[in-house]
Amino acid sequence: MCATIAKKEPGLTDMRVFIIFGSPKKTGSTAQILNAFISGLPDDVSVDIFDCFERSPLPCNDCRFCYEDDLCTLSDLDDFYTKLEAADILVFASPVYNLSFPAPMKALLDRLQRYWSARFIRQVRPPIKRSKRGLLITANGAQSQEGGEMLERQLKPILTTLNTKLIKSIHYIGADKKSPLDTAIKEAENTAHLLFE
Ligand SMILES: Cc1cc2nc3c(=O)[nH]c(=O)nc-3n(C[C@H](O)[C@H](O)[C@H](O)COP(=O)(O)O)c2cc1C
Repeated sequence: MCATIAKKEPGLTDMRVFIIFGSPKKTGSTAQILNAFISGLPDDVSVDIFDCFERSPLPCNDCRFCYEDDLCTLSDLDDFYTKLEAADILVFASPVYNLSFPAPMKALLDRLQRYWSARFIRQVRPPIKRSKRGLLITANGAQSQEGGEMLERQLKPILTTLNTKLIKSIHYIGADKKSPLDTAIKEAENTAHLLFE
């Protein structure tokens, strides 16, 4: 899976899907569910993927420059912020690692702190003008979705600062025992259709 790909050339439609991909595995369970979602999207939708393991974002160091200004002093995510702010649909696709996000994706989520600062320190309402719908896809090694629900809990407060409403979570369970992916794949395809009804 490329760091940034487009299903079709951007500009064919106003709708933009931005995917944050958190697995190191290009063909693992998270990727397979995500691919089902992408294949269910209309052809003229613009799709971009940010691959956390390929990009390996620098961690937020709480420098607090974003308390004063609309900026992040670390420049490695400048393109990411632009795409995030312009998106209509945000997809977070991640395996569960130790009841949390894998480290590169956790670093990325911490780098969204600039929007928390905008909202709660600088009183910018909303910190991002364009409202968005959100989707969470998790892959759990365990036979329980407890880990996926932990990820959802971590994500929800962040989404409020991104002007994003979580409309669906898909938790695939039993990855360690290679449980069938069919149900999660069907759910992903259906969600793609529902988003553009
Ligand atoms: C470092 C590490 C920690 C993990 N921690 C958990 C965990 O807390 N709960 C769980 O259900 N699965 C856990 N797993 C299993 C992964 O969630 C599982 O292998 C998942 O399918 C990986 O998704 P992928 O194939 O898309 O990368 C862990 C795997 C790794 C490598």
